Amino acid sequence: MAEELSNKAVPKHIAIIMDGNGRWAKKRGLPRTAGHKAGGKTVEKICEEAYRAGVEYVTLYAFSTENWSRPKEEVDMLMDLLRNYLSDSLNNAKKNNMRVRVIGDRSKLDPDIIKKIEETEEASKDYTGLRLQIAINYGGKDEITRAMKKIAEEVREGKIDPADIDQDVIEAHLDTAGLPAPDLLIRTSGEQRLSNFLLWQTAYSEFYFPDTLWPDFSKKDLLEAIDYYNTRDRRYGGVR
Ligand code: IPE
Ligand code: IPE
Ligand code: MG
Repeated sequence: MAEELSNKAVPKHIAIIMDGNGRWAKKRGLPRTAGHKAGGKTVEKICEEAYRAGVEYVTLYAFSTENWSRPKEEVDMLMDLLRNYLSDSLNNAKKNNMRVRVIGDRSKLDPDIIKKIEETEEASKDYTGLRLQIAINYGGKDEITRAMKKIAEEVREGKIDPADIDQDVIEAHLDTAGLPAPDLLIRTSGEQRLSNFLLWQTAYSEFYFPDTLWPDFSKKDLLEAIDYYNTRDRRYGGVR
């Protein structure tokens, strides 16, 4: 497998919309929450495999700004899962040498979750392995709106001249500032939409939509996604 991978172009940054937990549970006659639990187990496995394959950045969509409209029990359960994940993430990050960063509007999260996010980011900031971004209360439109507000504030304070606002300035005010754009976006479960994920950053990403439900997404599925990426002819508007 290692030799096979060595001939491949490996996407530097993979973004994943982890979808299909509810359908996975329904198929088994289980509550949706069981699907989320199973989906949580897939996360570590896929991060490890991505890094082994040579991927440097993984960004995972864990909870969208729209997901608050789900039934309260489900939202509470998802927040509990995130709590547990973040509690374990200190150990996980250490074990896998992962640098963890959370994107999204964290100010709307419970204070204990915010604290765990800050602790994880601080403790893992010097790790040199995979760079993992977790999107929590994240929406692309919300991210761009918050960036615009920050820029407007800096204009008002006289720090930026409106004439100098360009794409680099906007990017520097997004939650993903400093990260390369995703080369490959994967959405599991067969749905083919962005659902407000990384609207700005996916301008030139390749999209891959496997039917596999997220809890079933395996190392093999990830390598197939990388194979798919290798069949694409990336042009960025130019010719080849
Ligand atoms: C994705 O699985 C997980 C989150 C949105 C948090 P879903 O819960 O959307 O699963 P489906 O789409 O109902 O199968
Ligand atoms: C997108 O999935 C959000 C996450 C995976 C966290 P959804 O399942 O919530 O998206 P829609 O509602 O089907 O578009
Ligand atoms: Mg869904």
